[in-house]
Amino acid sequence: MCGIVAYLGDKQAYPILVNGLHRLEYRGYDSAGVALVTAGELKVYKCQGKVAELEAHVNGQDRSGTVGIGHTRWATHGQPNDVNAHPHVSTSGDLALIHNGIIENYAAIKEELLHRGHRFRSETDTEVLVHLIDDIRSSENMDLPNAVRLALESVVGAYAIVVLDRTNPDMLVAARKSSPLVVGVGENGEHFLASDATPIVEHTRNVVYLEDGEMAVIERGKGLRVLNMRNQEKTPFVQELEMHLEALEKGGYDHFMLKEIFEQPRSIRDSMRGRLNLAQSEVVLGGIKDHEQRFVNAKRIIIVGCGTSWHAGLVGEYLFEDLARIPVEVEYASEFRYRDPIIHEEDIVLAISQSGETADTLAAIEMAKSKGATIIGICNVVGSSIARVTHAGSYTHAGPEIGVASTKAFTAQVTVLTLMALMIGQRRGTLAASRFHQLINELDSIPAKVEKVLANDAHIRYIADIYRNATNALYLGRGYTFPVALEGALKLKEISYIHAEGYPAAEMKHGPIALIDEEMPVFVIATKGASYEKVVSNIQEVKARKGKIIAIVTEGDTVVKGIADHVIEIPGAPDCLVPLLSVVPLQLISYHIAVMRGCNVDQPRNLAKSVTVE
Ligand code: M6R
Repeated sequence: MCGIVAYLGDKQAYPILVNGLHRLEYRGYDSAGVALVTAGELKVYKCQGKVAELEAHVNGQDRSGTVGIGHTRWATHGQPNDVNAHPHVSTSGDLALIHNGIIENYAAIKEELLHRGHRFRSETDTEVLVHLIDDIRSSENMDLPNAVRLALESVVGAYAIVVLDRTNPDMLVAARKSSPLVVGVGENGEHFLASDATPIVEHTRNVVYLEDGEMAVIERGKGLRVLNMRNQEKTPFVQELEMHLEALEKGGYDHFMLKEIFEQPRSIRDSMRGRLNLAQSEVVLGGIKDHEQRFVNAKRIIIVGCGTSWHAGLVGEYLFEDLARIPVEVEYASEFRYRDPIIHEEDIVLAISQSGETADTLAAIEMAKSKGATIIGICNVVGSSIARVTHAGSYTHAGPEIGVASTKAFTAQVTVLTLMALMIGQRRGTLAASRFHQLINELDSIPAKVEKVLANDAHIRYIADIYRNATNALYLGRGYTFPVALEGALKLKEISYIHAEGYPAAEMKHGPIALIDEEMPVFVIATKGASYEKVVSNIQEVKARKGKIIAIVTEGDTVVKGIADHVIEIPGAPDCLVPLLSVVPLQLISYHIAVMRGCNVDQPRNLAKSVTVE
């Protein structure tokens, strides 16, 4: 949720930190701060607001120094303000600390520290850490790495932390538990630390992902040591980053979200690359090969995820039941983890996450794992926590998604789910060879069809302009497009702050129909397919109550065109592939409405890209 960046090397730290904070701002953006050691002095600059405001605040002040830490915050404990912003400083003034996560037992630790004379300035849970480490260091006469290790023994919660020491500017100490931390190994002994690789990639491609319960000690002239909480050292595993810098830039688009929507023909293609073999009429998913038989024999699939990933999971439910005839349950990870659900060893748990760091999804995985289920991940971020704790998995290969509103990640997740369901359906013999062949060819043509949908952007923008001042909106879909209705509604509410609900079209008459009047835009996915006639009847029900219908229809449709207020045409496709096409105009509608309303599309209020707290 928060972004962490740190540097120790022979370059000036401040520009590296600020640039890194800009890259990390998508993780949280209510306040920002840096700490540097400059000629034996600890300089801490922090303020409420975005990184640009921090830069303005620091402007003209001394920002020299070759070691420093930086943080961009998403508030949990304490309001977003200057005092609660990180870094936090110990009472002695020697240590500065940045933190991502939540310290659950902070109140008890705080009380103890208050008795021991520490002065608290903020309302955050984080501040206890810096006082605790400093207290242990001075009272036990310990070096910093040992003091950090000992302090963390008494902490309950999740953390990624970096500690900077005024008295030793040649060292940085970091640790992680349930919150990601990456070390970048640069030139001439320089090192970077960050909550993800985005601030590192422009400096070095060599990274070490810390595991849970590990600490990193970086020392000038000595390099990097990785230790576990029993103080045992391990050889750091240096990996090469696959990320490319262009993927982190807007590339001429006004917003990351728009860029990412328009990237979908490519990202969907990348999700299929090397997996869809039309010539051999087969789907190969290398990442789950070793567990394929368990999948084929599965009695049940449980899909867990949050937000947009949960919506992709709902599409997965239709896919697996339709194509592979395996019963599926789709669960909010946050509910599943606390429910003591019945899980059998023959169950496959599919965990879906763009970031691979979502705390609830991680916890759901751990719980299902402890009950013996096979866990398969579908993640976008390579090397992320979920990718590492699952038994097997398939990356979505959508490339970095920076806009907080998920777009290309959703279509990539649905693409991978489609490939999985096709592969398992073929192996189980539930899919006739002719249908399998037809569907893989149709899937192959989806990127080109998405291009056609995107070419309609001007018309979609025109419709957005008509409904930009709506206060409510309803989204309806049926069968495969019901999850798309949910996703369309989520996109609108999260970036334009218009209240929106997604419903199965037929369910509307059991309640939401009461909301319909001449002011209410109702977005309906009414493509040709199994439920077409029934959805047309639902549209009639809305029109009879004077609601405004914006329908996503199959090219050439004349029936809905005659009833709806507006139609957006998309190319025809089999029902199971329609989600990949029909979600695109809904993403664009939300984007344009949000821009027209002057909203911050890429960084909507109160949200953060990666939800690493429960
Ligand atoms: O990284 P994840 O896919 O696990 O994130 C789950 C949700 O927080 C996420 O999908 C969220 O709902 C979207 N950013 C909304 O667009």
